[in-house]
Amino acid sequence: MTVDISTKYLGLELGNPLVASASPLTGDLDTLAEIEEAGAAAVVLPSLFEEQIEHDAWAIHDLYDYGSSISPEFFGPYMPEMEDYNTGPERYLETLRRAKDNLTIPVIASLNGMSPGGWTAYAKSMEDAGADALELNVYRVATDLDTPGEEIENSYIELVEDVRKAINIPLAVKVSPYFSSMAAMARRLVEAGADGLVLFNRFYQPDIDLDELRIKPDIVLSSPVNLRLPLRWTAILRGRIDASIAASSGVHTGEDVVKLILAGADVTMMTSALLKYGPSHVATVLFEMESWFAERDYVSIEQGKGSLSQASSSDPEAFERTNYMRSLVTFSSRP
Ligand SMILES: Cc1cc2nc3c(=O)[nH]c(=O)nc-3n(C[C@H](O)[C@H](O)[C@H](O)COP(=O)(O)O)c2cc1C
Repeated sequence: MTVDISTKYLGLELGNPLVASASPLTGDLDTLAEIEEAGAAAVVLPSLFEEQIEHDAWAIHDLYDYGSSISPEFFGPYMPEMEDYNTGPERYLETLRRAKDNLTIPVIASLNGMSPGGWTAYAKSMEDAGADALELNVYRVATDLDTPGEEIENSYIELVEDVRKAINIPLAVKVSPYFSSMAAMARRLVEAGADGLVLFNRFYQPDIDLDELRIKPDIVLSSPVNLRLPLRWTAILRGRIDASIAASSGVHTGEDVVKLILAGADVTMMTSALLKYGPSHVATVLFEMESWFAERDYVSIEQGKGSLSQASSSDPEAFERTNYMRSLVTFSSRP
């Protein structure tokens, strides 16, 4: 196969468009080596959380332990030991330094929070520890009835501006799709200093344990159907914002990667499938993706990138409300 599968993300030259996204897998040095060996183009380390920085004693691994004890079927044999996982800022920076020493692919550090404040100073510490780029995950569930959407959006922007000012390395911002106007928000985030957007964060919804009659935090891994949301927004934003696009959620197969590239993604990110099938799954997905392009005589993935984005599509309305009506009508007229 002679397809050029290289791509550019956040100004970084990558060998291919498959990146391992933030999860416990990318917090373990041995697993990181396996992910690199299998061919991933870059890795995003698990997040350092605002709460970890603001409250030193807060131990994220308790949360993960809890999650894995209630859903063991979801984590399987590839979940690394959580004993020493991500227990505080200093250990995080040490893991980052060691990951940089051990790997040749770019290492992206991740900072996760929601409120502007002193904790964002760790962005600079991550840069100093050798991160090739920073991913800022803004994870906020807005529950206050008195706070209007604009105020919440402004706090996102302030946070991005603060982090942008603190570092010189590229900055990606990972967000959820839950804005009144995702498109306008995407543009504001880029204007505030994001070099790339990660579409999207998955919000983990709590469940109710009917035996114990209590709320339980339960992480459910994605399935390929979750691809549709990043697929739509990648296609809509491609060519309309001056930033890289990383598509995240529901990437499980080579065909998923192909779809997102045709929609306009610069890279695609994978967590659930790696937890399910292990690091070697990267090689399978890359092979499937490359075969698809080779069989159709593409010389590079760049050639196909964005060819089915909304801007390039012969059917731009397929990404909008018209498609909703059309889908319903087609569905109900099925035999
Ligand atoms: C167990 C687990 C831990 C995760 N930890 C983080 C994290 O620390 N920071 C982050 O930004 N995303 C985290 N994520 C979200 C993933 O990076 C990814 O965005 C999400 O799982 C959707 O991609 P997927 O469909 O490939 O799983 C985590 C996901 C899982 C399942």
